[in-house]
Amino acid sequence: MNTVYLDNAATTRVAPEVLEAMMPFLKEEFGNPSSFHSFGSSQMEAIDKARGQVARLLGAKCEEIYFTSGGTESDNQALRGAVRNDPARRGIVISAVEHPAVLETAKALENEGCTLELAEIDKNGELSLESLKELVDQQTAIVSIMAANNETGVIMPLKEAARIAHDAGALFHTDAVQMVGKSPIDVHSLDIDILSLSAHKLHGPKGVGAIYIKKGIELSPLLTGGHQEKGVRSGTYNAPGIVGLGKAAELALTHLKDTVIRERVLREKFEKRVLETCPGSFVVAEGAAQRLPGTVTLIFKGIESEAVLTLLDMQGIYASSGSACSTGSKNPSHVLYAMGVDYTQANSALRFSLSRYTTEEEIDRTVELLAVVVERLRRISPYTE
Ligand SMILES: Cc1ncc(COP(=O)(O)O)c(C=O)c1O
Repeated sequence: MNTVYLDNAATTRVAPEVLEAMMPFLKEEFGNPSSFHSFGSSQMEAIDKARGQVARLLGAKCEEIYFTSGGTESDNQALRGAVRNDPARRGIVISAVEHPAVLETAKALENEGCTLELAEIDKNGELSLESLKELVDQQTAIVSIMAANNETGVIMPLKEAARIAHDAGALFHTDAVQMVGKSPIDVHSLDIDILSLSAHKLHGPKGVGAIYIKKGIELSPLLTGGHQEKGVRSGTYNAPGIVGLGKAAELALTHLKDTVIRERVLREKFEKRVLETCPGSFVVAEGAAQRLPGTVTLIFKGIESEAVLTLLDMQGIYASSGSACSTGSKNPSHVLYAMGVDYTQANSALRFSLSRYTTEEEIDRTVELLAVVVERLRRISPYTE
């Protein structure tokens, strides 16, 4: 059976070129990059090449990139590192729709004595800058606003949010895990202090990521140990993963312009055809000014998303009912809740996320099957137009 993978916001396939770049570091080049001997230390060249590849994708300098184990670690490093810096600043301000990697970390820090404020999100999934402004003050250590939301794909006003943080003397962090490699992002023009990214969202391997920390900013390290990464992130280098992330970043940059156009065209076609063929469906955050090219959440009124997912799965089509991390928790999405979507409708939400490998045929097949599945489930649901 030909499968259709439309869950690229959860994770992506490893690009063949990435796997090829990693292989020597999984096989013969197994030395420790921090070793004195050349068998290990020669790997530092490959690690620094990867640093350059990641830096170029972000418009950053090489020395501003530090490798981590992924988005979750980078988010933890940003928040935990920032609040330890200055005892007079213990405030954290984030948006109400952050990924659990930020939200739960911020809540944990609140339990440890920090203050936590959540900036409001409007019905289009967009950040309220007025709300953010009211919450940020001289006690704020860090403002953390995601670059693009993992459920709705809504792109946040980072430049304006960074200005609000900086006006109060706070650091500005963005969780750009969903944005990097999918839509252009430039840390210097947006005035971002700290940024998190993850390799597995851009056709790289799982368990590796990076944190951009603007030159001059010092964060108290999350992991202490062998002083790798200038002491910012200790731990033996994951050379294969880092090389894979570097290659993935290089490929993402090479394909970025084409990917943005291709994914947008396919996603818009998908949305239009689903709305035509599935009565009672609508696009979440349709009114947002900017959304990621390839991510959409649709609500099919009166239908349990899990029923749709199961029937799609049986036909080899893979989508998601929200963020993979909250699947199985039965809690309605905090993102949809923050947007004012009611509980019943939130249980009818399905996310489809494309990649640069998604084809038009795959989109057509998904639309056709969705129409059949939704029609079938509607017949047994109490929903009426
Ligand atoms: C917005 C966002 N932040 C952070 C993460 C966590 O990244 P990782 O899986 O690399 O820990 C994810 C993963 O789903 C995400 O979508």
